[in-house]
Amino acid sequence: MGDALLSTHAYSKSESLEYGELKMSNTIAIVDSRNGKQADLPIVSGALGDPAIDIAKLNKELGLFTYDPGFVSTCSTKSAITFIDGDQGVLLYRGYPIDQLAQHSSFLEVAYLLIHGDLPGPAQKTEFEHHVTHHTMIHEGLKLFMNGFHYNAHPMAMMVGIAGSLAAFYHDSLDPEDPQHRMITAIRLIAKMPTLAAACYKHSVGQPYVYPKNNLDYCSRFLDMMFGVPAEPYEVNPIAAKALDLLFILHADHEQNASTSTVRLVGSTGANPIACIASGIAALWGPAHGGANEAVLKMLNEIGDKSNVARAVERAKDKNDNFRLMGFGHRVYKNFDPRAKIIREMCHKVLNELGIHDPLLDVAMALEEVALKDDYFVERKLYPNVDFYSGIIYKALKIPVEMFTVMFAIARTAGWIAHWLEQNAAGDVKIGRPRQIYVGPKSRDYVPLGQR
Ligand code: ACO
Repeated sequence: MGDALLSTHAYSKSESLEYGELKMSNTIAIVDSRNGKQADLPIVSGALGDPAIDIAKLNKELGLFTYDPGFVSTCSTKSAITFIDGDQGVLLYRGYPIDQLAQHSSFLEVAYLLIHGDLPGPAQKTEFEHHVTHHTMIHEGLKLFMNGFHYNAHPMAMMVGIAGSLAAFYHDSLDPEDPQHRMITAIRLIAKMPTLAAACYKHSVGQPYVYPKNNLDYCSRFLDMMFGVPAEPYEVNPIAAKALDLLFILHADHEQNASTSTVRLVGSTGANPIACIASGIAALWGPAHGGANEAVLKMLNEIGDKSNVARAVERAKDKNDNFRLMGFGHRVYKNFDPRAKIIREMCHKVLNELGIHDPLLDVAMALEEVALKDDYFVERKLYPNVDFYSGIIYKALKIPVEMFTVMFAIARTAGWIAHWLEQNAAGDVKIGRPRQIYVGPKSRDYVPLGQR
């Protein structure tokens, strides 16, 4: 399967655009008031966004570290892939606004854009789609692996394991330093992720796995693998496939979020790309990140009715109650999440087109309305994020709630792999190794067991 890729011209060219250079505009003086020592640190900036202080020599010059739990003020890398302006609600993939891509593009075109840095020309697009289509099958040995999972295992638990196991099945192309290996694995991951995801679902419902069909597009193929059965033909609903494609575009990348940063951190050790992506899936699983879409639907179900919305909002504001409005708030967006705006509109459209009336949508709209007028949410700039409405769309597409984060993982694989490629193509990977402020016991002597 790898040979087909090796022979094509499209993959011998550089896999992603060069990093733009960091510009140094000025310096900032940090004076240590304990001893008057001073370090002049460069202020660096990129093409867009706030500048940053380059603190690389801070420890050497002043013997100080910086302390920033949660990386609230820390850039971990430079990147030319995605730009977010959280105050203005702007999201650009390689410079293209997300709403334009959502309106005109497709998920595979966006995946190409993220990886290569530019939109594909017609021949490149056809070739990329061809390669992805022809790498969707998974090794038959993986079925045995799948069968080892208990029937009620959470699909994300299966995904973490099964995606990581791909490294054992496709170890011919895992060298992070080889550009062709890098690109083959990128294609394989984007191509195989839906097959793995559908297999996880089929395993959980005890149905036979459905093989990927080459005559279908990326999203139709996935829906066919999810809902097709050997007993009768399955007709993919084009509205569902289109909606899924749009959701995948919106979820494809989001700069240095927790899972992408995880992929980069693991990648910085020289680990193979499949191990890196598996670590990204694990990071995505948490409810503060990709797990939020599942948590939103559970929350809406618990609220159950518009009449209970006010009570839910009060609970979310109560500091003695650890209940949060899932799907609300974002580390970066402090105005609105542009993806949420698109998904909100899309949610109404898809439900209309599919002729579905979901009372959960009424609950979600009532919740949004109440929260957006409430001082607590206004003051903290808490707006619906990408996951607030996505679950309702997934539900309308008959995707089970446990699969929601898996859907996110399929889409985000494009972003993860683009970041991993960018990191490795640069050829200057430095192992990520944060420091800490130690607050444990000072040095003390070992006490023999009998004296404790
Ligand atoms: N409901 C109620 N209060 C909230 C919420 C919420 N959803 N989100 C934040 N707050 C409050 C916090 O309690 C805090 O209040 P305080 O200043 O009085 O202490 C303030 O708003 C700031 O919140 P932080 O947690 O400090 O913000 P942070 O940037 O660390 O967290 C996060 C962002 C994790 C997304 C948070 O808003 C949250 O937990 N949201 C719900 C989960 C969610 O939807 N996650 C998906 C994010 S999008 C994605 O990953 C795809």
